[in-house]
Amino acid sequence: MTLPIFRTKPVQPYDESEHSLKRCLSAWDLAFLGVGAIIGTGIFVLTGIAAATQAGPAVVLSFIIAGFACAFAALAYAELSAAVGGCGSAYGYSYAAFGELFAFIIGWDLLLEYGISVAAVANGWSGYFCNALSAIDLPIPVALTKAPELGGIINLPASLIVLLLMFLLILGVKQSAKANNAMVVVKLITISIFIAIACFNVHPENWHPFMPFGWFQTLPDGKTTGVFAGASLVFFAYVGFDAVSTAAEEAKDPQKDLPFGIITSLSFCTIIYILVAGLLTGVVHYSELNVSSPVAHALTLIGFNWASALISTGVIAGLTTVMLVLYYGLTRIIFAMSRDGLLSAFFSKVNPTTQTPVRVIVLCGFIISLVAGLMPLNELAKLVNIGTLAAFAMVCLGVIILRIKQPDMPRPFRSPFSPLFPVLGMVSCCALMAFLPALTWLRFVVWLVIGLIVYFTYSFHNSQLSKNHNS
Ligand code: ALA
Repeated sequence: MTLPIFRTKPVQPYDESEHSLKRCLSAWDLAFLGVGAIIGTGIFVLTGIAAATQAGPAVVLSFIIAGFACAFAALAYAELSAAVGGCGSAYGYSYAAFGELFAFIIGWDLLLEYGISVAAVANGWSGYFCNALSAIDLPIPVALTKAPELGGIINLPASLIVLLLMFLLILGVKQSAKANNAMVVVKLITISIFIAIACFNVHPENWHPFMPFGWFQTLPDGKTTGVFAGASLVFFAYVGFDAVSTAAEEAKDPQKDLPFGIITSLSFCTIIYILVAGLLTGVVHYSELNVSSPVAHALTLIGFNWASALISTGVIAGLTTVMLVLYYGLTRIIFAMSRDGLLSAFFSKVNPTTQTPVRVIVLCGFIISLVAGLMPLNELAKLVNIGTLAAFAMVCLGVIILRIKQPDMPRPFRSPFSPLFPVLGMVSCCALMAFLPALTWLRFVVWLVIGLIVYFTYSFHNSQLSKNHNS
């Protein structure tokens, strides 16, 4: 007999009879959705911080290492999203593969990934926004642009942009594929301008020493540096390709298009990241890059003020959509968990006037706004990464478990070389987690413990699955 906490939800792949959302997204829309959610603070801000404090010019290697871990995970996501379906992403797959408790933990983990990502991207947005205001002689007092840990009082712009997005989402601003595609084009133009200028302004001496912080070391204050520590930080840049799988119910031909969208967007972004990271550290010395808007800053340093201003504008617009997609994804996962009875039904109430889940949007908005104002980007990104890496490792494990438990399940896309690739995915994600500092681990464990308390005091008793089973 299966213990209730291990009860699994049956796989219901793409049952059209129950389908209510319009299938309007093509394979390329999904790829654009992925690129829209992926390219953001990671490349525009963290590349500079990682180069200056963790890896030097070898930050390129950090991007390649993190990209490999993501590639294995992406193949696992592609297999499960095509076979298992559902918009709950890793949470839904875990419900089918591991049972309720693990599904809850993954769902809880995804709340951390999506919620804290919004706060982290808000920090990146704030850096470029303040930079743009200074450029037009309207500087904000420094104490109001930094978290207390960095010597300020609060990062006010980061806090306020989250509240602004909260109002937009309440009003029913839907992420439409067309608007998203337009924003992706803006982001790509922004990056192309940087690449075009940087190509002609590289000073190879900036790449020496290539690896000033070595592969990995833990400093006396507990902080970590080196290429691997850099990889576990810049991993943040890849967060978001998993958001493609949450569009499972809106894809025209999900079983073909989801694997295409996930793999295409990730491959494309990996190439862009390697190019930008290599060029950025070639244009200026890595030690100059520990600033809040490194790409624009580098262009200013080499005398391209007009390009710097243009890039700041593109980044400000581009990061706004990343936040919207992630914030929207967060409310969707809370919705899925609330629908399954694992979180209170309070969260799945839709406001009759606005037709949006106002309660969950407002609650998340205030919490994220506070976190965005009080915690620095660096710390937020690491917290997102540990949560995301854990989810990726579980998805890889899910591929292996489902192949054993349900060998005959139709799999329109199969991760190649299974179980080797899923195992490599798990190992590389766990290794990147190991390179994160102890404080990040502590925060993550505290979050999971709170989750377990919620599960055993509330979700276990209210789960729809166990209610259906008992009735
Ligand atoms: N990958 C997204 C970013 O870098 C979350 O902003």
